[in-house]
Amino acid sequence: MNFYILTLFPDMVLEGLGTSIIGRAVNRGLLSIDAMNIRDYAFNRHQSVDDYPYGGGAGMLMQAEPVYLAYEAAMQKIQSRRQEESAADTVETVGQKPRVVYLSPQGKVFSQKMAEELSKEKDLILLCGHYEGIDERVLEEIVTDYVSIGDYVLTGGELPAMVMVDTISRLVPGVLHNDTSAEGESFQDNLLEYPQYSRPETWHGKKVPQVLLSGHHANIQKWKRQQSILRTKQWRPDLLESCELTREERIWVEGCSTEQKIEYEKRGKE
Ligand code: ADE
Repeated sequence: MNFYILTLFPDMVLEGLGTSIIGRAVNRGLLSIDAMNIRDYAFNRHQSVDDYPYGGGAGMLMQAEPVYLAYEAAMQKIQSRRQEESAADTVETVGQKPRVVYLSPQGKVFSQKMAEELSKEKDLILLCGHYEGIDERVLEEIVTDYVSIGDYVLTGGELPAMVMVDTISRLVPGVLHNDTSAEGESFQDNLLEYPQYSRPETWHGKKVPQVLLSGHHANIQKWKRQQSILRTKQWRPDLLESCELTREERIWVEGCSTEQKIEYEKRGKE
């Protein structure tokens, strides 16, 4: 998958994404991350990309033209990459327009579901705003999706873009070492992940739940599922509404009080 990040701070995003799992995936050719510096497309002597908003108001706005030129440069890269690939007889994507995400607190809130959907794209352009935002006209022309990473305001779109690239990339086949390690984790089926334990068996007097040492696969699976459900009920009850529980599970969790839950956990640890 190829990411193209339109930003005033290319070093920030490239350094942030160049390490660990994402950096290794780039080196292995599973991902590419290009950062286009919007300032390189400024059309004045001082290379400024911002100006005062018409009608007054606080702060400065990013101007339409440098953003548009940076977008065109990204499109050029995408086109030439696609042409090379179609010459090599891969999936025909030459004519398809890539999605262009504008990171903004006004956007739709990013979620695991959205990440799963976007991980199927071949190319993704991410536009990072700064100052008080970007001239509306260029947004109208190029943006396909408005995405926020949460109901708070950051100084720019770079950190949100990095959050998106990281979340989407780990869903691209081959990026995680073990293909199953993106399974069973938090937000799968809208449930939070169950608690996990490693060696030693007893730490600070706390024992690993007995069932996990039993070797009984079916019981372990059942325990994990129940822990996920209980944890979701306790920490994110809003998610529980929309997750797919069996009738028995729903009856069980509805009848399960916090006291019962503690009791249940204790039993698991005996
Ligand atoms: N830019 C500033 N704040 C943001 C947020 N919460 N999400 C996405 N982009 C942003």
